[in-house]
Amino acid sequence: NTPSMLILPGDGIGQEVMTEVQRVIAWFGDKRDVKFDVSEDLVGGAAYDAHGTPLTDATMAKAQEVDAVLLGAVGGPKYDDLDFSVKPERGLLRLRKEMDLFANLRPAQCFDALADFSSLKKDIVSGLDIMIVRELTSGSYFGEPRGIFEEDGQRVGINTQRYTEAEIDRVARSAFELARKRNNKVCSMEKANVMESGILWREVVTAVHKADYADVELSHMYADNGAMQLVRAPKQFDVIVTDNLFGDILSDCAAMLTGSLGMLPSASLGAPMANGRPKAMYEPVHGSAPDIMGQSKANPCACILSLAMALRYSFDLGEEATRLEKAVETVLAKGIRTGDLMQADGGKPVSTSEMTDAIIAELQAS
Ligand code: NAI
Ligand code: MG
Repeated sequence: NTPSMLILPGDGIGQEVMTEVQRVIAWFGDKRDVKFDVSEDLVGGAAYDAHGTPLTDATMAKAQEVDAVLLGAVGGPKYDDLDFSVKPERGLLRLRKEMDLFANLRPAQCFDALADFSSLKKDIVSGLDIMIVRELTSGSYFGEPRGIFEEDGQRVGINTQRYTEAEIDRVARSAFELARKRNNKVCSMEKANVMESGILWREVVTAVHKADYADVELSHMYADNGAMQLVRAPKQFDVIVTDNLFGDILSDCAAMLTGSLGMLPSASLGAPMANGRPKAMYEPVHGSAPDIMGQSKANPCACILSLAMALRYSFDLGEEATRLEKAVETVLAKGIRTGDLMQADGGKPVSTSEMTDAIIAELQAS
C-alpha cells in the first residue's frame, strides 16, 4: 500500500519551488526506495484560470483521500481584483476548513550558517530547533459573539475567546504526539491568570498529559512571559502549544529568530485518519513572491523542508527527514545560497534549480 501525496503547486514561485520538491521526491524513490503515489493538481489562481474556482470539488475530494497534501503558494497581482468568493486564498482556506486542520506547526530552526540573519545574537540562536503548535480553527478569530455593535450610543467591536474542552484536548494531543517524535518536552502557553479560557486550557492540557502522555515532560507558562523567554533564551523550549491568537504572534516572533522567509516550512494537522495518520497539509510559510517569479531566484528550501516535515510527521520516515534537513544544512554551510540568503557583499547567488542540485548532491553523498 504505497503512501500517497497530493501536490498543489499553486501560483508564482509556488510552482517553481514545487518543481524542485518533485526532484527530491524522485531522488528518494530512485535511491532510497522510498516510494510515493504522487498526484498533482491545481489550486489558487491557477485553478481559477482553468476552472473558474480556486479549488474544484474534485481536487478537494482528492485532498481528503491522500496521506498528505503539499502546497506551494497561492495568489498574485493578476488575481487581486477578483471577487472575494473566488480569490486564490479561498482555495487554501477551503482546504484547511474541510480537512479540519486544527493544529498549525511552525518550526523555528536555526541553521548555524544562517545565524547572522537572525534578529538575535548568534549564541542565543545557534542550534535552535523548536516547534510552535498553534490551535488554528477556534479561539478569538472565530468565537461568537463577534462583530461591531451599537451600545449606549456608540459602536463596540467584539471578539470572543472561546474554547471547548474537545478543542483543547485534540490540539494538546497533537503537541504531545509531536513531542514524542522530538525531545519529549512540551510547554503550554496561555493566560490562566486573567482568562477563563486560559484556566480551562491549562486544566485540559494537564488532564490529557496525566491520562495518556505522562512520559512527556510538561510545563506551563503565561504567554506574555513566553514571548519574553522566546527572545531571551529560546533554546529552553522544544514543543510549545498555544491558542490561535497567542500562537499567531508567538510563531511570527519565533520565525524571526531564524532569519529568512525562504527557509521556513510549516504543517497543518487534523484528526487521525483510519490508517492512524493525521490529516495533513504541508506548505512553506512564504507566498507566491510575484516580485521574483519567473526569474529562477526563488529559494526552494522552505518547500523542501516542508517535504522533510511530511516525511517525519505523516510517513514516520524520521531518518529520511533528518537526512534531507542535514543536506540542506550542509549546502548552506558550504556557502551555496540563493539571493535571499546573501548579504550585500555576498558574492554570486545560485539559481533555484542549482540550489536543489546541491541539496541532491549532498543527499547522494550522505
Ligand atoms: P511573499 O512571501 O510572497 O514575499 C515576501 C518577500 O519575500 C518578497 O520580497 C519575496 O520575493 C520574498 N520571498 C518569499 N519567499 C521567497 C523564497 N522562497 N525565496 C526568495 N525570496 C522569497 O509575500 P507577499 O509579497 O506579501 O505576497 C505575495 C503574494 O503571495 C500575495 O498574493 C499574497 O496574498 C500571497 N501569499 C500567499 C501565501 C500562501 O499561499 N500561503 C502566504 C503569503 C502570501
Ligand atoms: Mg501571523
